[in-house]
Amino acid sequence: MDKFLIEGGVPLEGEIDVSGAKNSALPALAACLLTQEPVTLRRIPLVRDVLTMLRLLERCGAAVHSEDGVLRVQAAEIVHPEAPYELVKTMRASSLVLGPLVARCGRARVSLPGGCAIGARPINLHLAGLEQLGARLSQEHGYIIAEAPDGLRGATVHFDRITVTGTEDLLMAAVLADGETVLSNAAREPEVVDLAALLIQMGARIEGAGTSTIRVQGVRRLRGAEHAIIADRIEAGTFLIAGAITRGHLVVRRCEPAHLTSLLHKLRQAGVEITQAGPDALAVRAPGKLVSVDATTEEYPGFATDLQAQYMALMTQAHGISIITETIFENRFMHVLELVRMGANIRVEGRQAIVAGPTPLSGAAVIASDLRASASLVLAGLAARGQTVLDRVYHIDRGYERIEEKLARAGARIRRISDL
Ligand code: EPU
Repeated sequence: MDKFLIEGGVPLEGEIDVSGAKNSALPALAACLLTQEPVTLRRIPLVRDVLTMLRLLERCGAAVHSEDGVLRVQAAEIVHPEAPYELVKTMRASSLVLGPLVARCGRARVSLPGGCAIGARPINLHLAGLEQLGARLSQEHGYIIAEAPDGLRGATVHFDRITVTGTEDLLMAAVLADGETVLSNAAREPEVVDLAALLIQMGARIEGAGTSTIRVQGVRRLRGAEHAIIADRIEAGTFLIAGAITRGHLVVRRCEPAHLTSLLHKLRQAGVEITQAGPDALAVRAPGKLVSVDATTEEYPGFATDLQAQYMALMTQAHGISIITETIFENRFMHVLELVRMGANIRVEGRQAIVAGPTPLSGAAVIASDLRASASLVLAGLAARGQTVLDRVYHIDRGYERIEEKLARAGARIRRISDL
């Protein structure tokens, strides 16, 4: 299992490029199942979750071709409309193939995801929506079987709570359904908008993506398309925090500042200086005192749960008390005990973490428990005195493309060691 060895205390300087968004790439790849024709996708980050999704597409019968960072997927024929447990258990987003498979083939068999490090994460809302589109659902041996032999029918689907992949799954099902579908209380994340942009290029008729009501007029078939994935706002946010926590001067390039509004607002309130350094670049510095600022995670455009752990690492270096409230997932504080082992003063009370700062951090041996928790420990390691050894970096490889190489190019002393 690979580890990261980090020597902290070096301010990051220079430029760092953001990759395409993992959480946009995953639904875009699932959307390739909706057409027989080739779909060409640019800026797909080659992270582990994307590789898992490619394996899943291949298992369904799609041909995948990758060259110079461009992926071409062609699902001329779907041989197995299935997502097996071995793949779903390593990546919950595998359930994104459910909607496209049942829409295209009239049948899908998808393993139910089990528990997860950050919370229960059921897919009941995906299933309830598909039922409303006319799919018959049954369950056996841990699998959901969705059947719609005569095709799906448009309907009004109201989500009881906002779900990102649920919205994406239903959007992909609705584009081939007969008639109009209205998705209400839909997720407004930029990744949903990006998926809709791809589907529209494929011939889908969609209005309202990016708002909480999405209207879809079903079409009979979709065609191939070419599309570039949006920048990863969570990776960009992680690098902005890296610049601030190391008191460096970093330019984060190829990002979309408009997708980072709530984080930028918090960082500025906390005393971090952020300036626009070009249409798609932000420069970050934190020369002065950092002050504590509370944050509560919310659906987009609120403060992203996927940045909560990284923001908490920064708040350990801010003056005062900050209260960080997690409202999206019930168990997303796994990084707290590891940060405390590095010297942070954090107490968890239910859904709130109370961070008292600033506390000097000192390098320690720590263990990554999930993707964003690992990112927060990398940030803490970069700010700490001495050496941090981060174990189980496969978690970070799920969603960050060669993060250690990107950080090292900005001066970080971080390297990967593999024990054989
Ligand atoms: N929920 C249900 N029933 C459902 C679906 C969701 O109760 O059928 C609950 C979840 O348990 C959770 C809340 O609704 O408490 C929101 O979950 P959502 O469905 O929005 O999460 P997701 O679609 O599974 C995506 C991202 C996550 C990100 C969340 C929230 C992808 C592939 N994953 O997950 O990303 O945290 O939205 O923004 O897009 C990550 O990248 O590290 C990551 C976990």
